Order: sequence, then structure tokens, then C-alpha cells
Amino acid sequence: MQAIVMTETGGPEVLVAREADRPRPGAGQVLVRAEAIPVLFPETKVRSGEFPFPAPLPAVFGFQAAGIVAELGDGVDPSLRGARVVASTSSFGAYAEYVAAEADSVTVIPDGLSTEQAAAALMPGSVTLALLDAARVGPGETVLVEAAATGIGSYLTRLCAAAGARVIGTAGGPEKARLAREHGAHAVIDHTAPDWTDQLTASLAGATIDVVFDSLGGDSLTPLLDVITPLRGRILSYGWLTGAPAQLTATDLILRGLTLTGCAGTAWLAEVAAQRPAALAAVADGRLVPVVDTVFPLAEAAEAHRRLEDRRALGAVLLRP
Ligand SMILES: NC(=O)c1ccc[n+]([C@@H]2O[C@H](COP(=O)([O-])OP(=O)(O)OC[C@H]3O[C@@H](n4cnc5c(N)ncnc54)[C@H](OP(=O)(O)O)[C@@H]3O)[C@@H](O)[C@H]2O)c1
Repeated sequence: MQAIVMTETGGPEVLVAREADRPRPGAGQVLVRAEAIPVLFPETKVRSGEFPFPAPLPAVFGFQAAGIVAELGDGVDPSLRGARVVASTSSFGAYAEYVAAEADSVTVIPDGLSTEQAAAALMPGSVTLALLDAARVGPGETVLVEAAATGIGSYLTRLCAAAGARVIGTAGGPEKARLAREHGAHAVIDHTAPDWTDQLTASLAGATIDVVFDSLGGDSLTPLLDVITPLRGRILSYGWLTGAPAQLTATDLILRGLTLTGCAGTAWLAEVAAQRPAALAAVADGRLVPVVDTVFPLAEAAEAHRRLEDRRALGAVLLRP
């Protein structure tokens, strides 16, 4: 079968199209014939070496794949045979024509949803629902969503606006700002402007932010601490697009009565996994709308990574075997 092998850590060029043995499903596993493979932002960090790759290299790359269950390992529910699913691997093996994954990692795709839509929505949808569960955003609250134009940020924007919150989004440049508004942001600040936090503070005119969904990390929140609602303000730290997690100290939080929830690590990812069926249900009933930017042939995985890293994608990037 054709697969994308990661030869070493590095730039997109370390993702190479090769023939590989078709995997056999072990006990408790399914084999999925992949039709749509999402290219996920954290995968770019695994490829570059910023996040660890959990297997010896070279190895077939990729976290998730959507398609048809073609074979069952021992002990797997026979009703899964032929089902349309999104499978989640143990962080490798998904950029391939055939993907082995634990049967309890698969999410069955509801009728009415295409395989591409499910592949595009599963990760951002499940992370968004887990974040909203932790944040408990209420009507009338003011929410800051960083990087609101694509992925998780766009889904947070949509669902917070639907819950009656006032959403202030951040985005890079006019086209991303327009997208964030389309997703439901009431105001958008360009986070590529060096003074964006000053602009945001001025635009609040004395009001405060109740919930921050922090995907930029680094020092971005430090200048905003005094415009987060004292005692009630919640910060959900789930990404570090600037290269480091939120650089806040316990003193920063304690003196203002703020809560910071760390949204990473094994226990958090289990919360995210538990939201996968609900995420696809939210797409099926129209609460979440998958936006696909580009579908690349599987062999062009390196180009797909470049598109994501260069911030050119305006929606999900998929691979088609
Ligand atoms: N904790 C979790 O469970 C979890 C799970 C999945 C992903 N994540 C993290 O959540 C964040 C967002 O993921 P996503 O899948 O929603 O991403 P995505 O759809 O690929 O969007 C990322 C957006 O971030 C913005 N951005 C800002 N700084 C960037 C930079 N230095 N490089 C690239 N993009 C930059 C870009 O928008 P502009 O052009 O508008 O700046 C880009 O459109 C990432 O940090 C990811 O690692 C966390």
C-alpha cells in the first residue's frame, strides 16, 4: 500500500511517499481503508520534533483517518465490519491507504455526513466540546477566542456565540478576520499587530473578559490580566501557537482571583476522546459546520504540512489516498 513515512524529525520534506506493508489488525483492533485523512496542527509539531514521536523512525506518520472498516481483529464487535468511521491511532500510522487502530478509538460517522466532513470536524469539534465543558460559558458573558478563523477557534466562536456570549476573536489579517466574523465573532482584533492587546483593552471601554480560550500562549495574555473579570475570570490554556504555553504565574492568578485550566496531557486527551461522538453529532445537526480548505493526494503530505504551517489554510486540510 502507499503510505507517508516520516524518515527523521525536520521540515515537511521528511514526509516521504513510500510503499509499506499493509498492517494487520491485532486483537481488539480494526483495519480501516482510508478515504480522508485530516492533517492536524499538532502533527506539524510532532514532525518538526517539538513534540515527541512515539515510535522508532522511520515510521508511517499520522494521528487520524476516516474511511471504511475493512477487517476486524479478534474480539471486535462484528457490527463494525463495513462501518464508516474516523479512527484515531496511537499517534502514528494514519497517513496510509490502510490504517490499524484500536476498535474503541473509532467514531462511527452519522448518516448524512460525508467521510470528508467527519475527517475535517472530528478533532476540532471534540476539543471544542471538551473546552466548553470545562469553561461553562454563560449567556451575556464576554469571551476572547484567540485564532478564531480556523480549526478549534472557529468552532469555539460559533458555539459561544450560539450560547449567547459576546465573542471577541483574534485573527491574522483581513481575510482571517472576515472568516472569524462569519463564524460569529462580534469583534475581531488582528493578533499580528504588535499592539493588539492594547487595541483589545481600548475596545473593551472598561468592560472585562469572562473567559479566555488561549491558543497563542507565550506572553500574549500577560498584558490582558487586568481586563479579565476578577474572581470569575477563567483562562483555558490549550495551545501554544507562539511557541510556548501561557507564561502566567500563580501570583498573576491569585492576586486577581482568576482560574487557569490546563487543557493538555493524558487526562485531558481522554476528555477530548469522550467528546468525539458528540462532535460528529453536532456536525450532523448543523451546530458545527466543517470547512475544508484543500484535499491533497496522499503523496503530497509534505505540501499539506507546508500549507498549514504557512497559515495559508482557511479550513481543514485533508489527504486522499
Ligand atoms: N489541547 C488540545 O487538546 C489540542 C488539540 C488539538 C490542537 N491543539 C492546539 O490548538 C491550536 C490550534 O489548533 P487548530 O487545529 O485549531 O489549528 P488550525 O486550524 O491549523 O489553526 C491555527 C491558526 O492559528 C493561527 N496562528 C497563530 N500563530 C500561528 C503560528 N505561529 N503558526 C501557525 N498558525 C498560527 C493561524 O491563524 P492566523 O493566520 O489567523 O494567525 C492558523 O489559522 C494549536 O496550537 C494546536 O496545537 C490543542
